[in-house]
Amino acid sequence: MTIAKRIVLSSDHAAIELRKAVADHVTAQGWEVVDIGPTTPESTHYPIHGKAAAEAVASGRCQLGVILCGTGQGIMMAANKVPGIRCGVCSDTFSARMIRQHNDANMLALGARVVGEGQALDIVDAFLTAEFEGGRHATRVDMIEADNS
Ligand code: RB5
Repeated sequence: MTIAKRIVLSSDHAAIELRKAVADHVTAQGWEVVDIGPTTPESTHYPIHGKAAAEAVASGRCQLGVILCGTGQGIMMAANKVPGIRCGVCSDTFSARMIRQHNDANMLALGARVVGEGQALDIVDAFLTAEFEGGRHATRVDMIEADNS
């Protein structure tokens, strides 16, 4: 059986355009996109959208998630409240690679008012192509998760 490569995307109003660019980008790479973010520009509340996306990952419906708001910070904080979620905000590709390799992050947060589209898509690529290294890093990730139980 083939396991679907499914990714959840969400954002608040500040990042609708960048979310669309991320959706197109990862769709072209073969990911099945579950886009649960708002489609109209009215002001909305990032905690709602961060939590909903995080629940899609925590439930196993999606393997990974990318969430966006103005800075990436608020929606990251909301996502990390959901048990099993490890989400980091990244503005550079090195961090995006490392949160997968060392922290086994399952969600990436981006700030649409911080990074331009080209940089954002490079960050997404770094996040999606890196793999968790396990070993001593697994011990540390287990320590994070133990505090959730
Ligand atoms: C919305 O104006 C803004 O506060 C939000 O997108 C985000 O940057 C919060 O962390």
